[in-house]
Amino acid sequence: MTIKNIVLAGTPQLRHITKPVPQDMFGTKELNNMVETMFATMKANKGVGLAASQIGLEYRVLTFGFDMNHPRYPDQEPVPFTLMINPQILTKSPDMVYLYEGCLSLPEIRGLVPRHEWITVKAQDEKGYWFETRYEGFTARIIQHEIDHLDGKLYPERMDNMRTLGITAALREAGVIR
Ligand code: NI
Repeated sequence: MTIKNIVLAGTPQLRHITKPVPQDMFGTKELNNMVETMFATMKANKGVGLAASQIGLEYRVLTFGFDMNHPRYPDQEPVPFTLMINPQILTKSPDMVYLYEGCLSLPEIRGLVPRHEWITVKAQDEKGYWFETRYEGFTARIIQHEIDHLDGKLYPERMDNMRTLGITAALREAGVIR
């Protein structure tokens, strides 16, 4: 099991638009290793989601999911561990919801980010089969955040009030986040 370093904001590659996983890559050791490394790296870094570009692999692959009482987001209900390859958002709610969001590539800071309350997503699984699912709440937020990564975007660009940006420990101290 390989755990990779997280690519930090400021690294030009994190701003690249990643490429789709081609059909002939499904079932290969390269893709299977990528997926395994992503889950391992996400868990080791206590992330709730990870994009392949955050470990230096410029493919449209994302993972998310976490167990109960996650240290970074203790208020959130657990989310099943999920893999999405070549994900596309098909529809999204007109309503936006706000929540303090963080990112492993921007350590120790949080900001209030608006996201669509629900989305429907089409993506491929490890074997290349397409699936389509509706997600809401925190899960929908994670997926929107990770798809942004695949397009070279980071959450501060989604914020509409930069005054909410803060140091995680200070926001906790102030009782703004848990
Ligand atoms: Ni992130």
